[in-house]
Amino acid sequence: MNTQPPKTIQPAEGKLGILLVGLGAVSTTFIAGVTAIRRGLARPFGSLTQMGTIRLGKRTDHRTPLVKDFVSLASLNDIVFGAWDIFPDNAYESATRAKVLRTEHLEPLRAELSAIKPMPGVFEQTWVKKLNGTHVKRGKTKRDLAEQLKDDIKSFSDRERVNRCVVVWCGSTEMYSPLKPVHQTLAAFEKGLETNDPDISPSMIYAYAALSLGIPYANGAPNLSVDTPALQELAQKNGAPISGKDFKTGQTLMKTILAPGFRARLLGIEGWYSTNILGNRDGEVLEDPGSFKSKEESKLSVLDTILQPELNPELYGDMCHVVRINYYPPRGDNKEGWDNIDIFGWMGYPMQIKVNFLCRDSILAAPLVLDLALLMDLSKRAGLKGIQEWLSFYYKSPMVAAGLYPEHNLFIQETKLKNTLRYLMGEEPITHLGREYYS
Ligand SMILES: NC(=O)c1ccc[n+]([C@@H]2O[C@H](COP(=O)([O-])OP(=O)(O)OC[C@H]3O[C@@H](n4cnc5c(N)ncnc54)[C@H](O)[C@@H]3O)[C@@H](O)[C@H]2O)c1
Repeated sequence: MNTQPPKTIQPAEGKLGILLVGLGAVSTTFIAGVTAIRRGLARPFGSLTQMGTIRLGKRTDHRTPLVKDFVSLASLNDIVFGAWDIFPDNAYESATRAKVLRTEHLEPLRAELSAIKPMPGVFEQTWVKKLNGTHVKRGKTKRDLAEQLKDDIKSFSDRERVNRCVVVWCGSTEMYSPLKPVHQTLAAFEKGLETNDPDISPSMIYAYAALSLGIPYANGAPNLSVDTPALQELAQKNGAPISGKDFKTGQTLMKTILAPGFRARLLGIEGWYSTNILGNRDGEVLEDPGSFKSKEESKLSVLDTILQPELNPELYGDMCHVVRINYYPPRGDNKEGWDNIDIFGWMGYPMQIKVNFLCRDSILAAPLVLDLALLMDLSKRAGLKGIQEWLSFYYKSPMVAAGLYPEHNLFIQETKLKNTLRYLMGEEPITHLGREYYS
């Protein structure tokens, strides 16, 4: 393995096109936020690329620049937005319907948001049962549809004069699907595009189109999408970074903050019951058992790799972990999550922790879209390709190379992300060894 940092990272010159698949609650909250920040109307709270700092060298060196001053990232002023959706609403109309942002915050941005009109999407209702898209592409084969998406990307790039693009999936959660033979090799996948293989989902067609052009692709939903050997092969072949799956916000974020603490203090867990009420379109889509199964797999996986029950069977070997999502329209995007955690300590005495998180889903997700777009673009300019495991920080169900287990602990993920930035810039990784080591 090459452990030398890349010799050069191409500078972030010119415009960066951020192409969003799905112009719903998350995408419009993201676009509105960036537009407001550019105009000095809001601050980028929650974004590591905009507000995060990174320590370099020893603590006594006092070198802690902002991340964005340390690595070359696209400036917010150089971002141009594009989108696809299966409904024709522009970003202003969609944001109004999503009811995440208040009128007083949307109205000043009306002109910019209204100008963002989605391109027709690639859609099949078998994959998202609850939606009946009207603004969709037609094509004889899935290969034709992929070609239409590639044409969209090229026309967008020419029209907007962008130097580089990234694609971020912010579309609805597709039905759960296990890996099938058509996903195993690029050759099988390309044949499947020609023959309209039913196991190729719309999100895979978007990923294929982006990667065919060498464009980075980030997957914010739990469906397989780019997490297949076939598309990973294409990413390697065309030098495109990929990352996923499922933005880590809300309840799972809390879990990956709390569980590492219990594990560090060797507190046992008998059960962890999580339930949510949610009333946005995402919640409606997740009412379908197929879409919920994708989400459930993604939400359930986090505790095992943090707690490692195989190493600590007495503490975590018999844990009952349940996750529920209930669609409850009055709440809109303001999800409420409850966690009941039954833990035990010294001599087996039981204790309980209750967490009631009244969160705002899209407010938590929007800065992740920004960071991922900028860091995926950085990866591309640094010559990184294939799975970007260092971006696990942002995902509920991080993609990893075959044979590795994903890292879910938020604090290890943060260290990994920052050490990767240090590595890219030729700085020493931080080990946290102190002076006592030498005495
Ligand atoms: N908000 C969060 O905290 C969060 C966290 C993790 C993951 N996610 C995921 O992010 C995605 C977006 O969430 P949201 O709240 O914005 O949902 P949303 O329902 O408001 O928006 C999704 C949009 O995608 C569109 N769409 C669906 N299929 C499409 C296709 N094939 N092509 C183009 N557009 C398509 C829908 O019409 C809709 O406008 C969901 O999959 C959700 O599970 C959200």
